[in-house]
Amino acid sequence: MSSQAQRPVAKMLENFAESNPVSFHVPGHKNGELTGLPEAVRGMMTWDVTELPGLDDLHAPEGPIREAQDLLAAAYGAHRSFFLVNGSTSGNLAMILASCRPGERIIVQRNAHKSVFHGLVLAGAHPVYVDPVWDPATQSPGHTEAALILEAIRKYPEAKAVILTNPTYYGSASPNLREIADICHGAGLPLLVDEAHGAHFGIGAPFPESSLAQGADVVVQSAHKTLPAMTMASFLHVAQGSMLDADRISHYLGMLQSSSPSYPLMASLDDARHYIANYTEEDLRVFLSFRKALVKGMSAIDGLSVIQPDDPLKLLLRADGHSGNALSEALARESVHIELSDPCQALLVLPLLKKGQNDDRLQELFAAVRRAVQALGPGTETGELAEPDTQPTITAAEGPPDLQPGESSEWMDYQKSEGRISAASVIPYPPGIPLLLPGEPVTGEKIRVLHHYLTAGTMFQGTHRLGTQQILVSRQSPEA
Ligand SMILES: Cc1ncc(COP(=O)(O)O)c(C=O)c1O
Repeated sequence: MSSQAQRPVAKMLENFAESNPVSFHVPGHKNGELTGLPEAVRGMMTWDVTELPGLDDLHAPEGPIREAQDLLAAAYGAHRSFFLVNGSTSGNLAMILASCRPGERIIVQRNAHKSVFHGLVLAGAHPVYVDPVWDPATQSPGHTEAALILEAIRKYPEAKAVILTNPTYYGSASPNLREIADICHGAGLPLLVDEAHGAHFGIGAPFPESSLAQGADVVVQSAHKTLPAMTMASFLHVAQGSMLDADRISHYLGMLQSSSPSYPLMASLDDARHYIANYTEEDLRVFLSFRKALVKGMSAIDGLSVIQPDDPLKLLLRADGHSGNALSEALARESVHIELSDPCQALLVLPLLKKGQNDDRLQELFAAVRRAVQALGPGTETGELAEPDTQPTITAAEGPPDLQPGESSEWMDYQKSEGRISAASVIPYPPGIPLLLPGEPVTGEKIRVLHHYLTAGTMFQGTHRLGTQQILVSRQSPEA
């Protein structure tokens, strides 16, 4: 019987590497021997193996990988949990594919990550978008109101599932997830939650409650974002009594995940589960006192304000008279690298410290941040993104949010495109939440926000030519 003190996958790989193995199998780096990369990377490659006898198989787990996934489910109170080696992206795709068929409706919080919209395209789903409320604290779109989800379900009773994002990238948590879960279940719908930024929820107050504990059926978490896991390493949990079948999700994960899943990533997931499952109240006290010192030190810097969102692992910094992008660049010149910036602010993801991991470089950090803010000097940028002037609404799309084919679309100066229909996605990145989706009207509000982002130097993904101010719009007028 295994316990949360163990790391079955890590142990399996450690034992294997110690057996002085000879490799006549893939991968071609042969336990790291043929690589030209530095020693630190070569060392890790001794764990980068494949489905050899005794090393189990993520796609048909029976040994240590199965044991590690069972420990994961037990740690999070799930019915079944899966290791994801291709990020929360693959989890979002799988849960959407498992919940609906082409042409079927699905209710989606509009400020979702692009992977959710990609899932809708792959599934051929017809989304019903529910706008979020504006979160003034983080100056960003927040959660959806329960009343609006209820209205969407009443209007579109044929919908197959509801997909929410909780928390937001900015650390804003939904105050009414439990109520929404009850509404969904009352209507016979599963609630799917993209909790990419909340793998650490569940360690107790002041951290918000996890979506799983609040009744979500399926939850996807990027372990790599907030736990000590390697990039891409993520979890998918299926709740006890879930309205969406775990085997269906497993079926799609089998298609979406590589047939050669990375063993170092699986070991890292095993380690991340071990980390969070053994996080004690004393660890929490250590983290909170580190955070308190950080907030105090940063708040004492002239011209800088510190905003504390719902998730204590996140902080927002705002520099008077400067955009978040300018602040981020000034910090990078001091070798302080933040998670994302927008026209208003810079977002920090703090380390989820444990006892014995106290950060002793705080004074150095404050000095560097002070230098960065001083280097910016006085500024005149307003930074504010400002609340949209429209109330949150429900919008049903006529098809999946897919790129419109070439003949039916044209490039256009975005400033002149008000009233046209977008033919492509325009995605400020990070956070990766599409500002425009194919099929959506280009409103004056969207143009204002796009302009604001561009002026602040934000990077964009999607299909666009913003270097020459152009976006792709449908040739047909909205009335046609
Ligand atoms: C809300 C949200 N969901 C999903 C993802 C995708 O996560 P991953 O990078 O683990 O694929 C992200 C990534 O930034 C995200 O912010």
